Amino acid sequence: AVGTQIPRLAARVQTGELLRSLLPLPAPYRVPLPVPPVLTPRQDATTDYYEVTQKVATQEILPGHTTAIWGYEGTFPGPTLVSRSGRRTVVRHRNALPVPAVVHLHGGRTPSASDGYPTDLIVPDGFTGPLPHHDHQAGLAHGSRIYEYPLQQRAATLWYHDHRMDFTGASVWRGLAGFHLVHDDEEEALPLPRGDRDIPLMITDRAFDADGSFRYPATDPTLLHTPGVRPDYVEGVLGDVILVNGAPWPVLEVDAARYRLRIVNASNARRYRLELAPQPAGGGALVQIGSDGGLLATPRAHDAIVLAPAERFDVVVDFSRYRVGEEITLANRLGSGTTAAVMRFRIARRATDDSVVPARLSPIERLDPARATATRTFAFRDQGDEGWTINGRPFDPMRADATPRLGALEVWRFTSDFHHPVHLHLVHFQVLSRNGEAPGPYDAGWKDTIDLSPGEEVAIITRFTGYRGRFVFHCHNLEHEDMAMMANFEVV
Ligand code: C2O
Ligand code: CU
Repeated sequence: AVGTQIPRLAARVQTGELLRSLLPLPAPYRVPLPVPPVLTPRQDATTDYYEVTQKVATQEILPGHTTAIWGYEGTFPGPTLVSRSGRRTVVRHRNALPVPAVVHLHGGRTPSASDGYPTDLIVPDGFTGPLPHHDHQAGLAHGSRIYEYPLQQRAATLWYHDHRMDFTGASVWRGLAGFHLVHDDEEEALPLPRGDRDIPLMITDRAFDADGSFRYPATDPTLLHTPGVRPDYVEGVLGDVILVNGAPWPVLEVDAARYRLRIVNASNARRYRLELAPQPAGGGALVQIGSDGGLLATPRAHDAIVLAPAERFDVVVDFSRYRVGEEITLANRLGSGTTAAVMRFRIARRATDDSVVPARLSPIERLDPARATATRTFAFRDQGDEGWTINGRPFDPMRADATPRLGALEVWRFTSDFHHPVHLHLVHFQVLSRNGEAPGPYDAGWKDTIDLSPGEEVAIITRFTGYRGRFVFHCHNLEHEDMAMMANFEVV
């Protein structure tokens, strides 16, 4: 019974396993950085309406090769949606893929029925494979599903991606991810870089087969439905090609001016430590202005930024700190060989620049743990053949693992045996502590995903406002998620 079956795994591959490409890799910094096109909605007084078709398409990702992808509107990344805070966005997703799909708006404050619960499938017409034997809130939809997003939330860099139970890793790897930006008046009033100098960067790693197709373990769908045949990648699936917006190690020509880079780590499992090389004199090149949930209270200059899967960092880089003609690599200090570099910037010309990074960005209300009405603890652990578990239990769509009251302020503690990027749907949270000490350098602002390190205990605080209903929280290492490291909270 797919839907309650924990994927059981034949071979447990130990650490550092890299899925290698079976074709010669291209030289880096040749392909210009693509920027995904922005979709135009149909509009009425209150709402923006979109139609998106998920389909198989081909794309030239590695020069000279074609890759079959699964894409929103047939592209990888999918098209970018741009919404106004508080203005309803309605997306009809049509599924023309060979498999069921689920769409989740990551970072969206979305009612349960539109949140992309992992068993709320869009079943493509003509699909004859197995389906979960229980529905959740919204249940099965056939052909297409309408997702309604109230977007009662501040400006932020959100992204949307597939969330089908047990198969999210395989589906996202094939291309099912895109940006969804939310703007508001407060942010637009700030003199931050904008227009061509506000660029989304979706970083992913992939591996390719000899014929140019994506390589992923056990891609045969009949095998995927058979327990015991799927290899278990303890660290998740890691590829040897780094793509930004779907292009391998791309290059972007920039003015000697400030740019806002909205970075999302959309990789299945890879963590990055991003750094500009060379660093400009004086360091602090990556000026963070935002995190998962939008603007920080004040900017923070970093030499390097560590991103776990699903985290977003909005940074401003001032390329006028470099000389015209210089080439700057966005390096990955957690990678080696082909994964040690992400992309390159070429300083093309001098230019005027009236952007500023203000010393104050957006006020953030500090949540006070002394006022919390509940504290809950969740242990993220590898339980061998039982999969990856939370508090010793694999995911069960029918079980509520926490029942916060609507409006309640709660402290959640996470412990971890490994690297687990933990993501909560519906809410944004603040980090209170790591191992009883102050939050880390990358924990500022409103977060929806937090990077746990092996042996660490992290406390967060959040208020369960917005909507009642059942939502998931899970590890965003997609292979861990697919191997059942997921649980439910039900807002009551
Ligand atoms: Cu980005 Cu539940 O996922
Ligand atoms: Cu994990």
